[in-house]
Amino acid sequence: MDLAQLITRRQSVRRYSDRPVEQEKLDRLIEAVRLAPSACNAQPWTLLLVDEPALRTEVAKATFGKGLSFNHFALQAPLLAVLVIEPPPLAVRLGALVKVRQFPLIDIGIAAAQFCLQAAELGLGSCMLGWFDERKIKRLLHIPRRRRIGLLITLGYAAPDYPLRTKQRKQAAAMSSRNDYRNKAG
Ligand SMILES: Cc1cc2nc3c(=O)[nH]c(=O)nc-3n(C[C@H](O)[C@H](O)[C@H](O)COP(=O)(O)O)c2cc1C
Repeated sequence: MDLAQLITRRQSVRRYSDRPVEQEKLDRLIEAVRLAPSACNAQPWTLLLVDEPALRTEVAKATFGKGLSFNHFALQAPLLAVLVIEPPPLAVRLGALVKVRQFPLIDIGIAAAQFCLQAAELGLGSCMLGWFDERKIKRLLHIPRRRRIGLLITLGYAAPDYPLRTKQRKQAAAMSSRNDYRNKAG
């Protein structure tokens, strides 16, 4: 699969089979995050893989609540990846202050994208989750109080009949332009 095919193939998967993810594939996913670019090469992340069934269930339950059922599918995923944001070196923190830019958030997003693309290449499904009870998950996984969780990612083999991408995207002319922002359509 070339990169363009991979980018097209990756989609959020919200229904999983219970087939566990092989250790070699997990190693490849760790490598995809490890090699991700980051501001000043700060690598401001810890990737926590949660697959112990009881613990995983508790973490999954912290991604939805009463009246908020949209992340219920996290209960089915055989593995939950948690991207913890680590404090970057002082130079990055100062640069972020001066430029008013959240570099670690950008870095985590890139790392998560690499994770999900690598997962797709390995035949795995994934879905990033930005909605969760951060305090509860930090308590469950013994993440220090001062750390922030950037994203959760559900991971596993998609259910056999899982439909192909349905999410619509903007037309190219509506989200890109050449030389002048005003050339963008709409
Ligand atoms: C930062 C971020 C947070 C997201 N949070 C959630 C979430 O909490 N629950 C969910 O089901 N999907 C979540 N998603 C997945 C998006 O809904 C999904 O990527 C988008 O609808 C495009 O669909 P696709 O991934 O299938 O291409 C999130 C994606 C990103 C990038």
